[in-house]
Amino acid sequence: MPEKTFHIHTIGCQMNVYDADLMANCLISMGYRPVSEPDAADLAIVNTCAIREKAEQKVYSLLGRLAMIKRQRPWMRIVVGGCVAQLAGGRILRRAPYVDLVFGTRALARLPELLRRLEAGEGPLSDVAGGDGVVEIGGPLQAVVQPTVSRFVTIMQGCDNFCTYCVVPYARGREMSRDPERIVAEVRALVAQGAREVTLLGQNVNSYGNKEGLCTFPELLERVAAVDGLKRIRFTTSHPKDLSPALIDAFARLDKLCDHIHLPVQSGSDRILARMNRRYGRETYLDLVTRLRAVRPRIAITSDIIVGFPGETDEDFQQTLDLVEAVGFDGLFAFHYSDRPGTPASRFSPKVPLAVKRRRLDTLNALQQAVTLARHQALVGATLEVLVEGPSKRCDPCGPEAGDGIQWTGRTPDNKIVNFSLPASVDAPQPEAGDLCQVRIEAAFAHSLLGIWAEDRAGLKGEACHAA
Ligand code: 5AD
Ligand code: SF4
Repeated sequence: MPEKTFHIHTIGCQMNVYDADLMANCLISMGYRPVSEPDAADLAIVNTCAIREKAEQKVYSLLGRLAMIKRQRPWMRIVVGGCVAQLAGGRILRRAPYVDLVFGTRALARLPELLRRLEAGEGPLSDVAGGDGVVEIGGPLQAVVQPTVSRFVTIMQGCDNFCTYCVVPYARGREMSRDPERIVAEVRALVAQGAREVTLLGQNVNSYGNKEGLCTFPELLERVAAVDGLKRIRFTTSHPKDLSPALIDAFARLDKLCDHIHLPVQSGSDRILARMNRRYGRETYLDLVTRLRAVRPRIAITSDIIVGFPGETDEDFQQTLDLVEAVGFDGLFAFHYSDRPGTPASRFSPKVPLAVKRRRLDTLNALQQAVTLARHQALVGATLEVLVEGPSKRCDPCGPEAGDGIQWTGRTPDNKIVNFSLPASVDAPQPEAGDLCQVRIEAAFAHSLLGIWAEDRAGLKGEACHAA
């Protein structure tokens, strides 16, 4: 019998990317093979995101495209997972009757059984049951969706914060932390597969373990840092209200912890922060920034901001701009507010007109772009450590920019993307994915840096790069 094939399309956050690998591993163990396009798939999964209106619209347009493919491949099974599946459940089956299975965020562990029922001819099926307790899926976790060198590890699921605009506590349930032993074992297994960097994921990693009385997040970091062969640790996301002195201290103590923190501020106005139920003010936030920079002067700070939250005035927005200038973020994810069904803010008024939200978003993005570029430009001439992820897409030998000499891509500890090449005169071993290399920065762009390998000839030939 020919092998069955699958394709997963993931929308949304890193946690969804991690879940996509869980799904992929489950499918591979059932005899499926991944394919890069849905038109070659016997099973197509849409791994959905409900965080903003736009992400949800994308789900339905993708499903429409899959329905067209299914007309040519009537045996194809269409599966919807993730946050929209959890929230919309059976409504998806009514709106898109060609869908064969809807499974929510808490049904991930039951995916094999659901797929077997589909294969046996049952369907359409829906499993969007709620419930408490951490969702655990055993077994080895091969990188199918993620790059091998840098891997995500979900350390907690759900969220208890109930920011008034946010759908996550409804889509992912209450906050639950995974057992530290399992996390460390997973990191060890990933390193054995070639990972050199892990990013620990949770909606609010700073409250890891509190509820269950497990170890604290800084203690977990220490245990992960003790894993041999692991070079770098990242984590996301931190809620400013829970960023403890112990975590700031971890930046001082743990060398493997990268020079980067994603610390969503959401607004620079105390009035709006209170309406968002964020439980901190702008001064607290600015103080955290100062304290982080005191222990790690080179730390990159990135953030999320929502513009046009209900009731946001020009004055509130000006305070956000002032805060962005004051902090000098390394990067910013800015969104215009969208009502999410069932959230308190969806009932708040007055709503900010779409044209005003768009104008504010453009203003904010223009301000940040200038800051990001200036920060990148300040790095020209510096020699930075880059964890090599692989050949740069831009220098694909068949690509449009073939011959431009850019060969490798990777990231610095402060999460800047660096494309780099070897010096023209050097005829030596090429770097490999997973190597830590020294790269001299020669040019800066809005989203990346361009450099040249700064290892000397001896270093290139020896172990200096591969074993760094
Ligand atoms: N509208 C716009 N942006 C939102 N976010 C979360 N909910 C909404 C919403 N209803 C943004 C927040 C969060 C990021 C992941 O998405 O900035 O930090
Ligand atoms: Fe949503 Fe707030 Fe939880 Fe983040 S902390 S997931 S914004 S409720």
